[in-house]
Parts: sequence; C-alpha cells; structure tokens
Amino acid sequence: MVQESAAAIKPTNLDFVQAASLPMVSLTCWQALTERAGLQPGQKVFIPAGSGGLGFAIQLAKHLGAQVATTTSTDNAGWVSHLGADEVIDYKKQEFENELSGYDVVLGTIRGDSIEKSTQISPGGKIVSLIGPLDAAFARSRRLNVLLRLVFGLMSRKIIRLTKNRGLTYSFLFVRPDGDQLAQIGKLIEAENKSGR
Ligand SMILES: NC(=O)c1ccc[n+]([C@@H]2O[C@H](COP(=O)([O-])OP(=O)(O)OC[C@H]3O[C@@H](n4cnc5c(N)ncnc54)[C@H](OP(=O)(O)O)[C@@H]3O)[C@@H](O)[C@H]2O)c1
Repeated sequence: MVQESAAAIKPTNLDFVQAASLPMVSLTCWQALTERAGLQPGQKVFIPAGSGGLGFAIQLAKHLGAQVATTTSTDNAGWVSHLGADEVIDYKKQEFENELSGYDVVLGTIRGDSIEKSTQISPGGKIVSLIGPLDAAFARSRRLNVLLRLVFGLMSRKIIRLTKNRGLTYSFLFVRPDGDQLAQIGKLIEAENKSGR
C-alpha cells in the first residue's frame, strides 16, 4: 500500500508507464542535488554515468542553473548531450580525473574507485554518494541501533578520512518517498513539455 504522503498526481504529458519510471530516480536526484548538496546556479556538478537512470540529475542540475559534466560510453555520448550535459567524458577512452577540475558537487553513482578519484576534481566540494559506503550519519537519520551506526561508521571511515584530508565532505544518501517533492518534479516535467523542450 502506498501512503498518500508519498504519492503525487501524474504529470499530464506522461502516460502511466512513463510516470511509473519517475519516482525512484527523480526523487534520488532531487534529494541529492537540492537537499543534500544545496546546488546553486553557476556551480559545477559532476554526474558520472549520465546515460543511466540517474541521468535525470543532468536535466535537474541544468534546471537549477549548474554546469554539468558526465561520463558515458561512446554510443551514449549524443544522448547525454541531449539531456544537457556541458562536458561529456567517454569513459572508454578518457579518465575523467585527467579532464575535469574545480567541481563543487560530485554524485557517487559508479562502483569501484570512482568516488576516490572524484576527490581529485572537487577540492572543497561535496560528494554525495548514492552507492555507498553507508555512513554513521545515515544510520542516525534512520534511527538504526548503535551497532549499525558503528558498522556504517567503519565502512565509510576510509572515504571520510580521504575527503576530510582534501577539504571535501562525504555523505551517503538513500532516497525516501516524498509526495510533495514528487509533485514539484511533476510540475517541472509538465512545464518543460509546454516550453517544447
Ligand atoms: N541511494 C539511492 O537511493 C539510489 C537510488 C537510485 C539508484 N541508486 C544506485 O545508483 C546506481 C546508478 O543507478 P542507475 O539507475 O543510474 O543505473 P543504470 O540505469 O543501470 O545505469 C548505469 C549506467 O552506468 C553506465 N556505466 C557503466 N560503467 C560505467 C563506468 N565505468 N563509467 C561511467 N558510466 C558507466 C552505463 O552507461 P553506458 O551505457 O554509457 O556504459 C549505464 O547507463 C546504481 O548502483 C543504483 O543502485 C541508488
């Protein structure tokens, strides 16, 4: 059963199948960029793997007035440019840490050493990871018990130390249902359609 507080009216320009694809990715991107990172107009945000579901963040970041870099495979380069990415790194041919610099916000969307490498391009910035490691703050926000707080704290100890040493902040975000935010996203999607974009 879906709680009323988690639901919103479907955007009029989407069918039900299209609309059903929205809540998870769009709320994740909204909560990461607006609530957690506080992304401001003119800031630079790095959104790796822009051709995936979380590529919605490219469109949202552009709406918020930010400058966006992303990574993708060769075949999807045109697609992420179409979504609005200002800088596109083909991860099959280039290393993003050699191409980008001065980013204010980085989303963690790729497993492996991508988040560690991102610290090189975002001095003083914020890393919001959607893939982990989970941290103690997340455990506290979910009112998890002391043992889990300890475990998550240990899991994220390395990346938190690395980011702190480089003047960045690290946090893990796990999406939560929010009907009000979903309604705002729905209005943006309707407005984009009316403006013909
Ligand atoms: N914390 C949360 O609340 C939350 C919410 C939603 C999703 N997530 C997580 O976020 C991650 C991404 O989700 P998604 O829905 O965007 O996944 P997805 O739709 O499966 O997209 C993954 C994308 O990754 C790209 N990719 C693969 N290897 C890459 C690499 N080395 N460098 C750059 N791009 C690469 C692929 O693009 P190409 O085709 O161009 O190779 C693919 O489009 C998943 O692990 C998911 O579980 C977390």
